[in-house]
Amino acid sequence: MVRKAVLPAAGLGTRFLPVTKSVPKELLPVVDTPAIEYIVAECAHAGLDDVLFVTAAGKSSMEDHFDRRLDLEAALEAKGKGDELELVRSSAELANVHSVRQGEALGLGHAIGMARAHVGDDESFAVLLGDDMLEPGSDFLARMIEAHERTGRPVIALMEVPEDQVHLYGVAEVEATDREGEFRVTRMVEKPPREEAPSTLIMVGRYVLPGSIFAILEETPPGRGGEIQVTDALERMAAEEPIIGLKLDVPRYDTGDKLGYLQANIELATRRDDLGPPLLEWLRSFLAEHDEAQGRS
Ligand code: G1P
Repeated sequence: MVRKAVLPAAGLGTRFLPVTKSVPKELLPVVDTPAIEYIVAECAHAGLDDVLFVTAAGKSSMEDHFDRRLDLEAALEAKGKGDELELVRSSAELANVHSVRQGEALGLGHAIGMARAHVGDDESFAVLLGDDMLEPGSDFLARMIEAHERTGRPVIALMEVPEDQVHLYGVAEVEATDREGEFRVTRMVEKPPREEAPSTLIMVGRYVLPGSIFAILEETPPGRGGEIQVTDALERMAAEEPIIGLKLDVPRYDTGDKLGYLQANIELATRRDDLGPPLLEWLRSFLAEHDEAQGRS
């Protein structure tokens, strides 16, 4: 049974400066909730109640968010603010949150390797990357876990992207299976130049891995960008026997990118009862005025 999740969160957030000089990018809100809370909620939704953050210096506020805040709870209770009290408490109740420091930023594979003592070599676990936000409430991670339990193989999430974006991701070579949306992954390349990419199917930041990957990660030399890459460790596993790829069939936002972050905010806000109607009304008139102004210029 898969119970543990590892959330690499030691990055400097350079794509999101200047705010990330003092605020961990994982705490930037999507509407009113830190991006990382959606990820921890996704773990809880898939039955993973043990979450390990792999963090770095300057990011301890991230752990605070998942702790109790008794002073704030008391103040809200005294004021009769029940809804707000519930919001403050619920993030602390999502999962048992642990953390380990990466120390040196030696790559995603190295960050995952930091979880070895917590997870152990005999237990399978999930890895979720904070920049990749999936549709809240989706059961995609649960389906990845199901595929892992059925096959015993590592499972990765795949998504089709335009050819000019493949160099930003791990890219997979796949064979179809008789299951809709499920592939055998025969080869993976981390951030290849477009002409060397085996396909336009990229790896999204969700993995379900056996504990045996830790020993492989330890032997994996630095790869693309001089960093230890989980893609390279998976490539070694796939060379022995194909691993499993599940094609994403729910929306995904790259919240580590400014445009993806704004899109996630707008899309999720428009779905809310309190914000959706006034936001959509404002967006309509804003766009109409914008188009008119463009037409005039
Ligand atoms: C990481 C992985 C890459 C994957 C991507 C998904 O890259 O190394 O294989 O496609 O996440 O978001 P990063 O974006 O951390 O450089």
